[in-house]
Amino acid sequence: MSRQWMIRAAAMLLLVTVTPAAPPAAAVAGARAAALPYQDPSLPVATRVSDLMGRMSPDDKLGQMTQAERGSVSAGDITAHRLGAVLSGGGSAPSPNTPASWADMYDRFQNAALATPLGIPLLYGVDAVHGHNNVVGATIFPHNLGLGATRDPALVQRIGRAVAEEVSGTGVDWNFAPCLCVARDDRWGRTYESFGETPELPSAMATIVTGLQGATLNGPASVLATAKHYLGDGGTAGGVDQGDTRLSEQDLRAIHLPPFKAAVERGVGSVMISYSSWNGAKLHGHQYLISTLLKGELGFTGFVVSDWNGIDQIDGAPGASAHDVRTAINAGVDLVMAPTGWRQFIDLLRAEVQAGRVTQARVDDAVRRILTKKFELGLFERPLTDRAYTATVGSAEHRALARQAVARSQVVLKNAAGVLPLARTGNKIFVAGRSADDIGMQSGGWTISWQGSPGNITPGTTILQGIRNTAGAGTTVTYSRSGSGIDSSYRVAIAVVGETPYAEGQGDRPGGLGLDAADLDTIATLRASGVPVVVVLVSGRPLDVAAHLPGWHALVAAWLPGTEGQGVADVLFGAVQPTGKLPVTWMSGAAQQPINAGDGKTPLFPYGFGLTYDPPQDDTTPP
Ligand code: GLC
Repeated sequence: MSRQWMIRAAAMLLLVTVTPAAPPAAAVAGARAAALPYQDPSLPVATRVSDLMGRMSPDDKLGQMTQAERGSVSAGDITAHRLGAVLSGGGSAPSPNTPASWADMYDRFQNAALATPLGIPLLYGVDAVHGHNNVVGATIFPHNLGLGATRDPALVQRIGRAVAEEVSGTGVDWNFAPCLCVARDDRWGRTYESFGETPELPSAMATIVTGLQGATLNGPASVLATAKHYLGDGGTAGGVDQGDTRLSEQDLRAIHLPPFKAAVERGVGSVMISYSSWNGAKLHGHQYLISTLLKGELGFTGFVVSDWNGIDQIDGAPGASAHDVRTAINAGVDLVMAPTGWRQFIDLLRAEVQAGRVTQARVDDAVRRILTKKFELGLFERPLTDRAYTATVGSAEHRALARQAVARSQVVLKNAAGVLPLARTGNKIFVAGRSADDIGMQSGGWTISWQGSPGNITPGTTILQGIRNTAGAGTTVTYSRSGSGIDSSYRVAIAVVGETPYAEGQGDRPGGLGLDAADLDTIATLRASGVPVVVVLVSGRPLDVAAHLPGWHALVAAWLPGTEGQGVADVLFGAVQPTGKLPVTWMSGAAQQPINAGDGKTPLFPYGFGLTYDPPQDDTTPP
């Protein structure tokens, strides 16, 4: 396990805290009269920023450039060190993990920031990458790969708005999303965080930025979005997470830059730097790509944030160093995510500024960018949770939207003899598979915990429950996880199988992309009965199924649908016609990786492939 992961694991262990009730909001926020220009919302933001900066001490500025993890910082630390940002790492939640508890935690940290002499509110960031996925009870939407299969940017924008409402209802004002990576190698553990393998598809889905940020950043429920991970994270050699993207500048620009250009054009407020390298040079220290290209050529005026301890990797030695700090800041990183080592970061940066190796002008540019977003978000006027949105967390309206998105994301890849759609009435259906009745399996990574996990981890509808809900008069539905008990009396068998949840590098699969042995055994049991088998694949990427496909009557790519498994059943029964199209090329075998549209290789199913039920289509599965 890498150092980063060990630190993160240790930080997670410290993260259970009891959150005392926040002092009355009016008692704090109202205590500051709008006596000074920066406190006057009628003035232009630029004017307020300049006035505030003129009042800030050097340490006030360094604190604004620092982000600590909630488990490694106290309210007193925030006040004493003038910290400008806090985050929850994946799965880092207050106890109890409820929307109200999150809001109380946020307000407690925010009031600590407001208690500083200048009362500069903090930013609080989370990875709400498919819903407010750290929060038990939140609506969990399909991961981005499934949303890419919908080919519906307007739907994705609506999802962004719903996520923004749930996130802001817990106080949180900054979302480390969307990932606008272009996934080029399915062995990469973060393939499911991508909207697709072409630059066009993630670019089109940048609409989620508008959903998250709203028409204006200070609008109701707006949260700051983050385009990540800049640049080329999905193009590394071998699909190695945090690896090296070996491309000409022309190809890097053509393949990986367009989604970030689209996000900048939509006014994305922050950009997160990738751990990966470009031709051996770490992105976190890449002045040309960050300052010249992103801030200069693309005209990005928001702020650049590092990834979790991302600057530590610049010099290749463990931990943060003076070299790491000055290289990252001078490259154009404005805000450093230093989850546990935030004190050391501040001390190192102070020393670099005092030595003149980081100019005050660079510090001022970074702070100006950060403060501009805080003013634009309206945090100086409304720093505390808008509890009017707290009830939207997991709301019926949001779950209905997620169900619609799940249905639209389903891709029917094979449908021999029209075995789909399933008859609702008078049917006898056998359901099997370890992913059939498991919210954790169908949600994947970044769900309640960083890596996600099997089990009943949060409220929702499993795929099996969806099937049972849809079955009509005279239809029986039998479930057996292993498939045992099936016999020839059943009219159809549905095997819901796939991948065990994972996140980031822990999902890298350099050794093959085959189905799990347990899943193959389950399918074999079903096939032995002679009953037609429908395979529903719950996975974060295409899997290597070509050798098995001839024995399956149907195959549906369900991706990682999240809490609303009813959407899968909607398509299986034809309540919703399948319209999903592959967002990535489906390999004929893992040896083809990387395989992408236009590369001349012959896939099992090409990018954009997807069957519909009506009009009935002959089985077009290639031999
Ligand atoms: C991670 C991820 C990044 C995430 C950050 C904070 O390591 O690379 O996507 O936003 O940490 O959780």
